Amino acid sequence: MTEKANESRRNFLYLAAGGLGGVAAAATVIPFIGSMLPAADTLAASKTEYDVSTVAEGQLVVIQWQGKPVFVTNRTPALLKQLDGHDDMLKDKDSMATDAVSAEWLTDENRKYRSIKKEYLIVVASCTHLGCIPGYKPSAGRAEWGDSVPEDWPGGWHCPCHGSLYDLSARVINGSPAPFNLYLMPYKYLTDTKVVIG
Ligand code: FES
Repeated sequence: MTEKANESRRNFLYLAAGGLGGVAAAATVIPFIGSMLPAADTLAASKTEYDVSTVAEGQLVVIQWQGKPVFVTNRTPALLKQLDGHDDMLKDKDSMATDAVSAEWLTDENRKYRSIKKEYLIVVASCTHLGCIPGYKPSAGRAEWGDSVPEDWPGGWHCPCHGSLYDLSARVINGSPAPFNLYLMPYKYLTDTKVVIG
């Protein structure tokens, strides 16, 4: 196993230890109870189907895949625009860690959006620092969030545990203790709106 794969695995294990602290979003949260999870080999093979059209514009829901919470967000054109203009703030711009989780659909064209359909972002909801679940803070600036975010906040996620920040493509912001962007995963569209993850 490569060092990057080991890093990814470690972070997923941190997730199991990290619990659900810090969810702060209009979201449906599925409880994550370790003792109720199926065996590891069953988890590794399991897939999750989800209809992304059930996520309202601008909103986020949390679903579950292989025992891990996953964010699904519906980004409006205005939110997508907030992805521009802050490349110099990105700590993991080339997103090398995504190789370890087989995001084979990732191309140069969709790398900024980190999604197959640009409005629907689907990422593992585990901070790549120690596995807490970051809170969703989509509007730009400090008006809604105060000094929990920087003045030039582009909108995204704020991890309450140790302050990691991610933009609306879940790309980690400079100065965060988290080393990598939130992880992507293999998925594909079965219909116009239904995805299968895994
Ligand atoms: S777990 Fe997110 S910043 Fe530490």
